[in-house]
Amino acid sequence: MRPKTDEGGRSWWRDQLGLAAETPSARLSADAIYLLGYMTSKAFDLGSVETDTFFDLEDHDGDFSFRWTHPRFRLKVPDRLPFVTLRFASLPASNRLTLRGAGHAIDVELPNGWQTLDLPTFEADEIEFEVGTVFSDGGVERGVMLRDALFHADENRHRRLFARHQNAVRNAAEYRAGVVVLETAPPRIRITTSKTCNIANEKACVYCAWDFTKDLERGSPDQTPEFLARMGRYFHDAMSVTDCSYGEVPLERHFEDVLVVTTEFDRNFEFTSNGQMLSPKVRAKLLGKAARVHVSIDSANAEGYRRYRDHRFDLIVRNLRALCEERKAGGKLPQVFVSFIVMRSNRDEVADFMRLMADVGVDRVTFRDLYREPSINGLRAIHYGYSFDYETERLSRPELEVVGGQCLALGDELGLSTILEWREFSRNVSPAVDKAPICSEPWQTAYLLNRGIMPCCYGRDPIATWETIDQSDLEAGIKAALNSAPMQELRRDLAAGRLGSYCEKTHSCPIVKARMAEDEEAKLAAE
Ligand SMILES: C[S@@+](CC[C@H](N)C(=O)[O-])C[C@H]1O[C@@H](n2cnc3c(N)ncnc32)[C@H](O)[C@@H]1O
Ligand code: SF4
Ligand code: SF4
Repeated sequence: MRPKTDEGGRSWWRDQLGLAAETPSARLSADAIYLLGYMTSKAFDLGSVETDTFFDLEDHDGDFSFRWTHPRFRLKVPDRLPFVTLRFASLPASNRLTLRGAGHAIDVELPNGWQTLDLPTFEADEIEFEVGTVFSDGGVERGVMLRDALFHADENRHRRLFARHQNAVRNAAEYRAGVVVLETAPPRIRITTSKTCNIANEKACVYCAWDFTKDLERGSPDQTPEFLARMGRYFHDAMSVTDCSYGEVPLERHFEDVLVVTTEFDRNFEFTSNGQMLSPKVRAKLLGKAARVHVSIDSANAEGYRRYRDHRFDLIVRNLRALCEERKAGGKLPQVFVSFIVMRSNRDEVADFMRLMADVGVDRVTFRDLYREPSINGLRAIHYGYSFDYETERLSRPELEVVGGQCLALGDELGLSTILEWREFSRNVSPAVDKAPICSEPWQTAYLLNRGIMPCCYGRDPIATWETIDQSDLEAGIKAALNSAPMQELRRDLAAGRLGSYCEKTHSCPIVKARMAEDEEAKLAAE
């Protein structure tokens, strides 16, 4: 039996994850890049900071600030610290970045999208970067979208982040090539650290497939920090970690430790909550953490909320207000996002909901629609005296688009970042290059949920269950499950440009819905 805590009081999993003692570091956020140039004006020509190195500060969907770099850009190295962590996005499907300093150079491949890369500075006074494939916008050439740079002396951090990035580069190549057996670990993982929920303890929310999910979860392992450490490279190499529990993550006794391990080396941890558990104690654990909390609300007032959930609407708004206020002192972390399922009975509440959330001070509102899945389709229920008819509540795509258009317009007016999930998902997982598989999920995201291993967030039937996974060697067990015969078949179909049998029955998936609508149109046109 492995010891979970050593004599010094440090946990075994902390050592496994290499959570190191504090080392010197200096962070420069995108907002501070101009300041850096200003403070080090001996090395920087301020005019060149403005015109040759960086473009103006921009806002990424209300999420964080960044600056486009020019194809070549420079950074001054404070105290000649030996490493730099860069958080940035590269837009071409694949790219290269060269860093030069003190007569040395390193050249790395870049995948597409937001990423974290740690490079040596060669202890130079100043380092210069060159972006291989420039992004051309209206004849203006740009390099990468730089969010921040952290100079540091933590060799362990450097090793871990560099390995993570190399894995992501190789994974992106496997996806583009449509490889069916993955050698790499998917750079995004979904986990489930909670199985219990305070609302379900009384009466589950009316649209929640609670009983169905709990049946699937029976016999699955508890995803403790120790369990996560045993996932090996499937945990270490993940660039982002999202908790998809049917439950309340802050209720778990390991919550604080989970926060520590999942946010190791600036990694982002996301989870969804009903918001009722965001007590002062829980908020204190979250403040300053690289976490993103999604709070599900679905109504603009207490009575509306009760129709679907329970009587604690005012408590959630109070918790959210307090969290948004308290985090101001912690670098505006955690990020606070709220979600709203648009239904027939609440579509008239979206404007009031958005005004309330703008007033509360959340970072973003996300609108989504009701899932379409066999375990819940056709549901009719009475919930706290209100009748709920699942099929009547579901809005058609044109109806959703009308509401969505109003949400986006109001979001602009209120200066509130607004996302329509039914549009966003396809955009995020669709191929960035021709001939790549039509959906990236089974390559780039591992759904290691206690309800089983799923190929994507819309999948409901597990591809593999925990009974079939070798848990004495969890890393090998996960590799086998992610490359099992059904997973290979699913990838083979997507790589060939078609939906296989698993996808075809996954009617909640926006890609599947779009394909089915196209087929329907083609059929009608042929008649
Ligand atoms: C299952 S909950 C678990 C997390 C947390 N207990 C909560 O309610 O936010 C995760 C998300 O699924 C959403 N959800 C639950 N049932 C749904 C359904 N039938 N259709 C669409 N979304 C649903 C919830 O609103 C929530 O945002
Ligand atoms: S709070 Fe979340 S997990 Fe709990 S019953 Fe409601 S939707 Fe389901
Ligand atoms: S159902 Fe298929 S196409 Fe849709 S997200 Fe899942 S794997 Fe991708």
